[in-house]
Order: sequence, then C-alpha cells, then structure tokens
Amino acid sequence: MSQTAGKTISLERHGPVLIAIVDNPPVNALSHSVRAGLVDAVTEFENDGHVKALAIFCVGRTFIAGADIREFNKPLQEPRLGTLIERLDACAKPIIAAIHGTALGGGLEVALACSYRISLDSARFGLPEVKLGLLPGSGGTVRLPRLIGVENALTMISEGGQIAAGSAREKGLVDKVVAGDLKAEAIAFANEIIANGGRVRRTSDLPVPSFDTELLATKRSELAKKFRGFTAPQMAVDLIEMMTRTPFSEAAEEEYRVCKELIGSDQSKALRHLFAAEREALKISDVPADVKGRSVEKVAVIGPGVMGRGITITLLNAGLPVVLVGKSDASLEKALGAIRKALEGNVKRGAITANELILRMDLLTVTTAYESLHDVDLVIEAVTEDLEVKRSVFSQLDMVLGKQAIIATNTSFLDIDALAASVVRPENFAGMHFFNPANIMKLLENVRSSRSAPDVLATTMALGKRLGKVPVMVGRSEGFVANRMLSKRSREAQFLLEEGAAPQQVDKVLTGFGFPIGPFALADLAGMDVMAAARAARLARMTPREQRCDIVDKLAAAGRLGQKTGAGYYLYGEDRKPKQDPAVGELLATHRAERGFPQREISDQEILERCLYAMINEGAKIIEEGAAARASDIDVIWTSGFGWPTYLGGPMFYADQIGLPKIKQALEQYSTLVGEEYFKPAGLIEQLVAEGRGFHASPPFPPLK
Ligand code: COA
Repeated sequence: MSQTAGKTISLERHGPVLIAIVDNPPVNALSHSVRAGLVDAVTEFENDGHVKALAIFCVGRTFIAGADIREFNKPLQEPRLGTLIERLDACAKPIIAAIHGTALGGGLEVALACSYRISLDSARFGLPEVKLGLLPGSGGTVRLPRLIGVENALTMISEGGQIAAGSAREKGLVDKVVAGDLKAEAIAFANEIIANGGRVRRTSDLPVPSFDTELLATKRSELAKKFRGFTAPQMAVDLIEMMTRTPFSEAAEEEYRVCKELIGSDQSKALRHLFAAEREALKISDVPADVKGRSVEKVAVIGPGVMGRGITITLLNAGLPVVLVGKSDASLEKALGAIRKALEGNVKRGAITANELILRMDLLTVTTAYESLHDVDLVIEAVTEDLEVKRSVFSQLDMVLGKQAIIATNTSFLDIDALAASVVRPENFAGMHFFNPANIMKLLENVRSSRSAPDVLATTMALGKRLGKVPVMVGRSEGFVANRMLSKRSREAQFLLEEGAAPQQVDKVLTGFGFPIGPFALADLAGMDVMAAARAARLARMTPREQRCDIVDKLAAAGRLGQKTGAGYYLYGEDRKPKQDPAVGELLATHRAERGFPQREISDQEILERCLYAMINEGAKIIEEGAAARASDIDVIWTSGFGWPTYLGGPMFYADQIGLPKIKQALEQYSTLVGEEYFKPAGLIEQLVAEGRGFHASPPFPPLK
C-alpha cells in the first residue's frame, strides 16, 4: 500500500517497515516540500503502531544532495532543516538512511540524525558547505566528530571533500555497505533491526571521542596555506574546537548561528554565485537543451607541440583513443617521449597506477598520414598560430574526414570565422581553446563561429565536461575572453612600471587581492622570450604608447629570460623564490628617463584599480559585442582559468559588489590620467549605470555572434 504524505515524499509500507521515498529531481535537495514531507513522514511513523522501523530512500540519481541552494536567497520557511533533524533524532523508533549517489551537506546531516546508515558501495559522503563559503548548520559539526572522530570530521568539514562508501564504513559513518537493489536491502536491514529489538541509536548521545589537541593548530596552519583568503575553513576549526568543550544542544545552537551568519557573508554569496554560474555556463544561450551532441569515440590531435601533447594527455586521461598527427617521425617520437614522461610523473605522484599508464599509452597512436583519420569523430588542430599553416592542415583533413566529423581549432587569437571559411563543412567547425598546460588547466573556451551547427557546439561542451574541464562557450573576438581581458591587465602592469611602480609592488598588490601569483612573477615563469614574441606578434595593432613601452624586450635583450636564466623581473636562487634586483630598478629608471616619464609614487589603490578596472571594462565590451553570452560566464572563465579568487566571485561579480557607478567614476578618472583609449567606460557600463543596474541583474544580452 502506498500513500502520498507530501508532494515530493511518498510512503510505502512493507510489513513492519515504513519507507519514506524522496523524489525531488534533479538531486533531491532539501527544498521546503521535502522537509515538510519528511516531518510528516516521521509523524506518521510515530503514530502508527504497526510500523516498527522507518527507512529514508531516494529515487533518481542520488540520495539527498544537500540544502536547496536556490532557497538561500529567500526567507526561511518552516519547518527548517534543524526541526526535521530534531524530529529524526528524537524518534523513539529506529530510522534508517538508505544511501546511493551522494549524501552531501544537509543530506548527510539527515543521515547522521538517523539511527542507522546503509549505503550502496558506489555511494559517496561529504559536508561540502565550506565550498560555498558556509558550514553545516543542522548538526553536521556536532554529530560527525562523535561518529567518526574529531580528526576525520575536521578534514571533511574544513575542506569539503567526499569519502567513498568503503572508507565511510571503515570510519564508522556507515553501518552496512551493500550492492544491488538498495530498497530491498534497506527493507531487509530494517527487518533485522526490528528482529534484534528495534534499538534506537542516537549520535547525539555519543561522547566526543578523545583527540590530540595539537591537531587544531596544525589544521589551522595547513588550511591557511591551502585556502588562503577563505574564511569558512578557519571557522570550521573554531566550531569543532567549540563543540569539543560544549554540551551537544548548546553546540548545535552555536553551529546554526554561525551558519546563518555565513549565509549572509560576501564570500558565500560569491561562491554560491559561481556554483550557479558554472552550471549556467554549460547551457549554450541560443541552443535548446534537448540538442544532443554528436558521439565522440575517437579523436585526432594535429600538432605534436606543447599544446598538442597536453591536449592528447587530457584525452587519454578521459579514456579516449587518440591519433596524434605530426609532420615528421622525429617530432612524433619526441612527443611520445614527453607524453610518457608526463604520465610517469602522474604514476610517481600516485595520481594513476602503473597499469593505468599502460592502458593510456595503448590508446595512443601517432602518425604522419592523414588517411588514418577517416574514422575519427573529432579533430583538435593545435598547429602553429598561422592562418596559412592552419588552412593547409584543414585542406588535408577535408580530404579524409567523414561527413559528421568535427574540426575544432585550438587557436588562441586567429579569427574563427576566417578559419571556418577555409573548411569544406563550416557547420562542423568550432574552436576548443585549451590553456597551457592543457592537461592541468581547468578552463576550456569553446569558440563558436557564425556558422557552427548547434549540435557541434553541444558536442564541444559535452566533451569539455567529459575531459574534466570547465567549458564555457565564447564568441568571435580577438583573444576570446580570458586572454583578451588579461592583455588589458598586462598593459596596465607595464604602464605602471613605466610611471614609477616597482614589479614587486604591483605583484604584492595583486597577490594581496587574492591572485595566486603577480603578473611579473608569472612573466618570469612563462619566460621573457615568450612574452617578447607575443608582443612582437601584436606590435602592429598596439597604440604608440604600448609600442614604446618595451620593457619586456629590454629584459629579454639583456638575457633576463625569467626563472629559466635565474633572472627576469626578479633574481632567482636555488630556492626559486623571487628576490628584488637593483639592476631591474636601474633598467626601469633608464627606460622612464628615455620615455619622459618622471617617476612618481603610485598608491596601491591606483595599482589595484587600474589593473582590475581595465579588465572589467574590457569584460563589459566583450558582453556588449556578444563575445560572451553572460557576465557570469566571464566570472567562470576568470576563476577557473586565471586565478581570480573564487571567494570574490569573478571580475563581473566583483564589479557589481563595488558598484558600477563607482567603477565608472574611477574609469573616467583614469581616462584623464592614462588616456581615453585605455579607460573610456564601455557603453554597457554607461548604460547600466544610467539604468541603475549591475552586470548580473540585467536582462539577457544579445545572442552570441
Ligand atoms: N540545491 C539546489 N539545486 C542543486 C543543488 C542543491 N543543493 N545541487 C545541485 N543542484 C542542481 C544544479 O544547479 C543543477 O541544476 P541545472 O540542471 O538547472 O543546472 C542540477 O542540480 C544538477 O547538478 P549538477 O551539479 O550539474 O549535477 P552533477 O551530477 O554533476 O552533480 C552533485 C551532482 C549533487 C554532486 C552536485 O550538484 C553538488 O555537488 N551539489 C551541491 C551539493 C552541496 O553543496 N550541498 C550542500 C549545500 S549547503
């Protein structure tokens, strides 16, 4: 017999076992109806003398994956999660959580308040709130340490990672791990509990296990390094420390207070914004969600250079057979060696096993013959950034590829439409712009040409996800989004040197803001020869001041190529730590004198604003031109690609937080100081300020070009 207790909760009776079935797609989040339905289910269970055990079971892909993030910005509706948890905890008959998929956040808190937990062997467990700038607010921090020990719980709560069923069983989080039909297993388990007297076990009754108090200080310093700038991980340690010395219910109240405070914090708002933004970015603005990508079972990579190798490793890591095409056997031999070496490095670090290395290498074939590409589904072209070289590759591909095969170019700045025009089937053509090192960097800019077919675009997005990347669809524009905005920050960093700032001052301001590395330390890492070559390639399109701002060329000419020569903007010793070098100070002083810039004191605020606002202004132009579909896409690009701190939500989110009127005013001020051509506010900023809006509260922007 079954009966509906709430819209998303239904009840089933199996003899003495009552099952509450949660059905709230897509991830069974604890929306109001789920909380209310489960409270009703507990009431029904308590009132019905015929049923002796209750099991909570979820349909669909997962057990409860947490609080409903969409409800965070709305007023809280009773019953709150804490009320449900109290009811589960207080119940005089045993309740069993039957877990598959992921039991996360509030979902795990529900499970912790039950008497027993049984799970499928594929299930995973975690308290990921910290990743959203939050902490558990319904008993997670007071129950989990009691069940699995303070150290284990502290790691899970302060870092937000997941553990697998086997480990959960070992740690005491789960009572039984099963395979097969979870519902049937849960009923059998409940019957066993009933047969053994129906004992209720309350985690809240357990004592706090003893632990080494040194642990807290060690964890604090570990977290300070690993999560620099994030507030919630440190607060997790505070909460755990508090719970070890405080009675259960008082500690639970304090936990709830802290969680509520964090929901309103700027860091949490930024991290929640990014959670939604990353998922939104997967939706191609004008391609219906039901357009399916083409099947990709075999891929070719053209070009065995640094990018081609990184892309090949990425594909192999995802289990895809790859044909790597090069011009000569020698270049392919070299690439094979480099790919093997990189994978061996992964084995050494324990990321993959020696057997996995063999399997990956078995997926790879190398060839100089285009004919062998007749059965590939997708080709990623990663040859020299030269239109003619790429065209000649495309003409060879056109002769051998099947009609449905997709050609994706990894160009970083060539015109995507011009490239598409040179293939026989432009509808099968798009860009997949990986970042170096391609096997490490998460960001993938998929680029649409004006003729790319919708299912081709869907394929590049699906493949990006399959490769473990953060794919974002961008439109036609020089440098696309990430590099185009970066070039504005780089320009300002150079101008600031020219006007009187020191490299270490600029780097310190930007790392102080939250970037993992400053622009000059980064240039030393990339190599001044590489920077000088990139400059030379763009020279004809630069303004006169940019052309004359040739500090990079001067450093390269002086043999200061960066870390690889032990000197660049900084000096490097054995420890590879950058040290200030008076010789750079002299080089800059001479440059300023030659170019007629009197040295002036530049404030940290000016450095920060010029570097960041130049990027934000460019971001606005990118949206205006339709080269990015949404402001939030730019936030995803910069946080997953170039180290914009996630707790600041991305450049466009940050701009909204600062306030566009303030940004516009600063842009006008720097227009006067540096030049209109660099800082004139974008039309979109003018418009949004006039309308009293921000980037994110705006209606949809024009479709991508
Ligand atoms: N509340 C509301 N919606 C949620 C959600 C939550 N807690 N978790 C996921 N969703 C939504 C996503 O926004 C997405 O919606 P969309 O299809 O409209 O874009 C959908 O569920 C699927 O999520 P997605 O992340 O794309 O699926 P997945 O299978 O890759 O991953 C999870 C599933 C549960 C592992 C992942 O969504 C996750 O980690 N969720 C957050 C869990 C969490 O932080 N809980 C604690 C909250 S305090």
